[in-house]
Amino acid sequence: MKDLQGKNFLGITDLRGEEIRGLLQLATQLKSSSLSPKSNQVLGLLFYKASTRTRVSFSVAMYQLGGQVIDLNPNSTQVGRGEPISDTARVLDRYLDILAVRTFRQQDLEAFADYAQIPVINALSDLEHPCQVLGDLLTIQECFGSLSGVTLTYLGDGNNVAHSLLLSCALMGMNFRLAAPDVYQPDNSIVQKAKQLAREGTEITLTNEPKAAVRGAQVLYTDVWASMGEEASANSRIPVFQPYQVNEQLLSEAEPEAIVLHCLPAHRGEEITDAAIEGQQSQVWNQAENRMHAQKALLAKLLGIA
Ligand code: CP
Ligand code: NVA
Repeated sequence: MKDLQGKNFLGITDLRGEEIRGLLQLATQLKSSSLSPKSNQVLGLLFYKASTRTRVSFSVAMYQLGGQVIDLNPNSTQVGRGEPISDTARVLDRYLDILAVRTFRQQDLEAFADYAQIPVINALSDLEHPCQVLGDLLTIQECFGSLSGVTLTYLGDGNNVAHSLLLSCALMGMNFRLAAPDVYQPDNSIVQKAKQLAREGTEITLTNEPKAAVRGAQVLYTDVWASMGEEASANSRIPVFQPYQVNEQLLSEAEPEAIVLHCLPAHRGEEITDAAIEGQQSQVWNQAENRMHAQKALLAKLLGIA
């Protein structure tokens, strides 16, 4: 596996398929405690959007590696008062060993990465959520034994999570289907990139028909219909997205062994019903736990301690 030490992780395609496989293998070893790499390095978290899972799982992962975490709330740091990213990044670079940024524009993440020498991790942007999908892939691998050939159907908004899932399915030889209203399909640039990465014979289907997309699927995945920053349109989206709700009726169209995933936080009664998220086929709590194992593996690799 190519050495990942010192690299940035701004999008899932910053890793190749074999590097993702290596990371998932390391995450599995870390999860079973058969390996415990140690470091006394410091992770900075600079989050311009709310977070529970990403903030806590990164923090606990870093503590368990023996390192420290500084939570850099933009409201109480100068960057929130207009200090340029270029200046902030060069200064943080002198103090920290690694930096995770949650922000709106992908260009801002790229600016942090351009001006800081330390690894910069995308902890969610409007374009991608690559740390989320590392945990998702680990969960799918645990459920089905491997990733290759698994069919994942994403229902709902063609957003950051959908983008990272689409790209990761292409990288890992998984079939990807997305069912969304026509105006909420994923960005064309991401779709084109995924098509270039996908192996011959790997399916990429974009449709507005939820039932057809779910037939034969082994993974049903959904996310909120309005992401952070889109709150103003949240109410008007509800009727448009209603046919894409993950509920027991839709789930009955999928393979009997199909699992239900949701990155959380969930809006019960909107994109997913209470019965679907709490049902036998739901893997969402294991999925949430796996964020920590996958990110611990990522930190260990980028810091060069595993
Ligand atoms: N799934 C996820 O990233 O959750 P948080 O927004 O709570 O970090
Ligand atoms: N698409 C959601 C994911 C939250 C983890 C958002 O960006 O708000």
